[in-house]
Amino acid sequence: MLRVGVCVSGGGTNLQAIIDRVQDGTIQNASIEVVISNNKNAYALERAKQNGIHAEVLSPRDFDNREAFHEAFMNLLDSYELDLVVLAGFLVILPPQLFEKYENRVINIHPSLIPSFCGTGYYGLKVHEGALARGVKLTGATVHFVNAETDGGPILLQKAVEIRHDDTPEILQRRVMEEAEWVLLPQAINLIAAGKVSVVDGKAIIH
Ligand code: GAR
Repeated sequence: MLRVGVCVSGGGTNLQAIIDRVQDGTIQNASIEVVISNNKNAYALERAKQNGIHAEVLSPRDFDNREAFHEAFMNLLDSYELDLVVLAGFLVILPPQLFEKYENRVINIHPSLIPSFCGTGYYGLKVHEGALARGVKLTGATVHFVNAETDGGPILLQKAVEIRHDDTPEILQRRVMEEAEWVLLPQAINLIAAGKVSVVDGKAIIH
C-alpha cells in the first residue's frame, strides 16, 4: 500500500479528485494518510475531515524563520512515513532538504504544459492569464516530479486543453481542471502505486 500525503493551500479540488478515485477504486494500492495545509482556512481541510483523513495545518507564519518552518515540515512528513508526497495546489516555498530526502517521491500538478507558463511567479490564475495574454491555442496540465528547480523536475504526465477565443482566466482555469488536472493527478498516483514509474537520466518513464 502506497502511503500518500497531500499538501494543499486552497480549495482542494485536486485533493477531492484523488479522494474520489481512491473511493471508487480507480486508484488502487494507495491510501491518503494525511492532508497538510499551510492555510488554516483552506477548504481542502474540510474535504479531508469529511472523508476521515488526518488534517494538519503548518504555516510559515507560526515560525520565527523559514528554517524552523522547514524543519517542522520535514518532521511532519517523516512522522507519517510517506512513500509519496503530492503537491496539489501547495503554494509554499519547499524545504531544500525535501528534494534530496524525498527524491522522486514528490509530485506536483501544474496547470500548463510545462515548459510553458511555469516557474517562479506562475501559479493559480496567473498561469492562465499568461496563456491568454500570449494567445496560445493549446494549454493543459502537467504532473511532474519535484526537484530544486521550480516546475523543472522530470515530467510524468501531460494533457492538452483547447483555448477558446472568449475564455477568461477563470473559465480556462476551470476547463483545465475538469479536462486535465482531475484526470492526470489520480492517474499519476495510480501508476506510481502500481510500480510502473521510474526516473532514468532525469526523465520519468512509464512501463
Ligand atoms: C490547481 O489549478 C493547481 O494546478 C494549481 O493550483 C490550483 C489548486 O486548486 N497549482 C499551481 O499553480 C502550482 N504552481 P485546488 O486547490 O482546487 O486543487
